[in-house]
Amino acid sequence: MQTIRETHFAGIAPAARGKVRDIYDLGDRLLIVATDRLSAFDVILPTPIPDKGRVLTQLSLFWFSLLRDVIPNHVLSATDFPPPFDTHADELAGRSMVVHKTQPLPVECVVRGYLSGSGWKDYQATGKVCGIALPAGLRESDRLPEPIFTPASKATSGHDENISFAQAADLLGRELAERVRNVSIEIYKKAAAYAEPRGVILADTKFEFGMLRDELIWIDEALTPDSSRFWPAALYKPGGAQPSFDKQYVRDYLERIQWPKTPPGPELPGDVVAATRAKYREAFRILAGRELD
Ligand SMILES: Nc1ncnc2c1ncn2[C@@H]1O[C@H](COP(=O)(O)OP(=O)(O)O)[C@@H](O)[C@H]1O
Ligand SMILES: [Mg+2]
Repeated sequence: MQTIRETHFAGIAPAARGKVRDIYDLGDRLLIVATDRLSAFDVILPTPIPDKGRVLTQLSLFWFSLLRDVIPNHVLSATDFPPPFDTHADELAGRSMVVHKTQPLPVECVVRGYLSGSGWKDYQATGKVCGIALPAGLRESDRLPEPIFTPASKATSGHDENISFAQAADLLGRELAERVRNVSIEIYKKAAAYAEPRGVILADTKFEFGMLRDELIWIDEALTPDSSRFWPAALYKPGGAQPSFDKQYVRDYLERIQWPKTPPGPELPGDVVAATRAKYREAFRILAGRELD
């Protein structure tokens, strides 16, 4: 298996390179290639993580399929690539999907079952998250009484910004905002209930949806370590930050070398790469119930 930081195909330019994915426009479809890029503190690091792209794609396919009855998703194929991409199967296999090209909604649909990250920051400052009042006295990483929908505006550059449900309704219309809230919470609850007996807490996660003509479609990625906080249940200890399932070695290393968290990111040493790779593979094994082959 190849490790790929950026795809390059002679004579074909990607429509976009995101933080992790290279996206090729096929007309009414997209070819989405999950590379092995890793971003930490919102900076893409120069060192790729072997198998990361395949874990993201295979885990997304797993969840899309498991939860297909909740909402249709954008996947058309993860094995057949149209010309000229069919001649690059060795680079694309396992990490790529052909999907419906949709009109992405301008809102990131975040669901939180636990108090962490920007949710914890908002709560400390205001007692609320995205305008939702929460009980007093919660600690960092505490479980919430009920999962909450905490949308964020899609910033074209830099950090996404938390918004209230009313602001999401202004952007989407009330009916669609309610729909994505309900669907997001339903997906979260089902995924969290699936992960829990496997020893994994799904603390929070981010979904994206798009419109395909009049139909609401689940797009982008599904419940991966990049879009979600997964915590090992055995180590769960509210009252502070939890170890991140996948990026902890990278974050620890970056703190240790006192990198200023501004570009460019430093190269990662081999042991940090190996440990991070193992964590991504472990997340896949535990959740999908099989080894990444
Ligand atoms: N089916 C789809 N239709 C249109 N856009 C999509 C679809 N699936 C994913 N996208 C977009 O493709 C991009 C995925 O690349 P990624 O590297 O994850 O980007 P980002 O840095 O924005 O997270 C996102 O901008 C996402 O909104
Ligand atoms: Mg993304």
